[in-house]
Amino acid sequence: MMRSLRDDFPTLRGENPPAYLDSACVTLKPQPVIDAIMDYYTKYPSCGGRSVHRYGTHVSKALSVARNSIKNFICAEHANEVVFTRNTTHAINQIAHGMSWSEGDVVLTTDREHNSNLVPWLQLEQEHGIDHRVVESNEDNSFNMETFEEACADANGRLKMVAMGHVGNLDGVTLPIKDIAKVAHDHGALVAVDGAQSTPHMKVDVQELGIDFLSFSIHKMCGPSGMGGLWGRYDLLDSLRTIQSGGQTVSASSYTKATWAPPPHRFEGGLGHFSGMIGAGAAIDYLSALDMDAVQAHEQKLNAIMTKGVKHLDGVDIIGPQNPTKRSGICSLLMKSVPAHEAALLLDEAAGVMVRSGHHCVHSWFENKGFSEGSLRASAYFYNTEEEAKLFADTLEEIVNTLG
Ligand SMILES: Cc1ncc(COP(=O)(O)O)c(C=O)c1O
Repeated sequence: MMRSLRDDFPTLRGENPPAYLDSACVTLKPQPVIDAIMDYYTKYPSCGGRSVHRYGTHVSKALSVARNSIKNFICAEHANEVVFTRNTTHAINQIAHGMSWSEGDVVLTTDREHNSNLVPWLQLEQEHGIDHRVVESNEDNSFNMETFEEACADANGRLKMVAMGHVGNLDGVTLPIKDIAKVAHDHGALVAVDGAQSTPHMKVDVQELGIDFLSFSIHKMCGPSGMGGLWGRYDLLDSLRTIQSGGQTVSASSYTKATWAPPPHRFEGGLGHFSGMIGAGAAIDYLSALDMDAVQAHEQKLNAIMTKGVKHLDGVDIIGPQNPTKRSGICSLLMKSVPAHEAALLLDEAAGVMVRSGHHCVHSWFENKGFSEGSLRASAYFYNTEEEAKLFADTLEEIVNTLG
């Protein structure tokens, strides 16, 4: 199944396609997404939602189709609960800076958050005196429910938000979000899930999870860069102030007063990234045609191959649980003998294997553990093959054996 899909991706066609194992950062783009973007620029390059001429009407319709596709993909109740954003970071900032805060309000995150789900809360702490607290994970980075429950109780009625990454980009560990949401709600808190690494790789059903907000990156879902999404329960979205006011965000204005437009338009100030939104719709339609359970199983299978091939290497430690089925498609390695950046360059140079090296925007975790060099991270998607997973492991072994 997965192999036949490769032809849809221009960068995977031809004689020597790369073994692209950096999809946790950005995914490759399939032809239908590229076509949808090209169509916008070549056939109706105009403004949606405002102009009523033929081009404008075409864009408006395409935007509403795209929003609806996203709504169906994440099982939202209504398309008006889906906001187009620039990325996950923008979505989380809209939640964090759109809410009203009082000094001492408690926000809980884990100790393995991407900066996008850490720094906005730190900013609120600095600027509004909220109390951001970190829930420590187990030794192997898995979630500790007891510690979390204690942290909720310790907040003493001041818990306002539980903001956690569904799947870690650091280690691929999945959090039991449904259980977390239940506990958080019992304590009167809202639950904002950073779905940047889950929404592209597994079935994410916001109703089933019982959460309040979901942020995601369309560019990690075969869609255009500069595109992401925010979902929120309608009444909650409606209670947020916009962090970008201006055109589109009001239903009326006078010299003295702005009357805010309802969601989602209140949050989409200024002329939109229309080609991106239409490309987002095409990307979500593309993913909607896949069996997301099969996508998840495929990535786990590839991770098992990568893990088996690298776990015995000298000076290489896997971050997170040793069992690959607990790390989705992510194989993140602490490199003790060959620096991660050097290994990443050599993997591409020697075998066309593209991976990421560094701190993956989770500086806080590396700083806390004292691993200043960061890690080497291979991340698989449905278009990767078993051969590519093996090529990664074999080439890394050669590099470590030669230089380590
Ligand atoms: C878990 C997680 N959260 C947030 C982000 C930030 O996403 P974006 O760059 O789309 O804002 C990423 C990106 O890698 C991520 O992996």
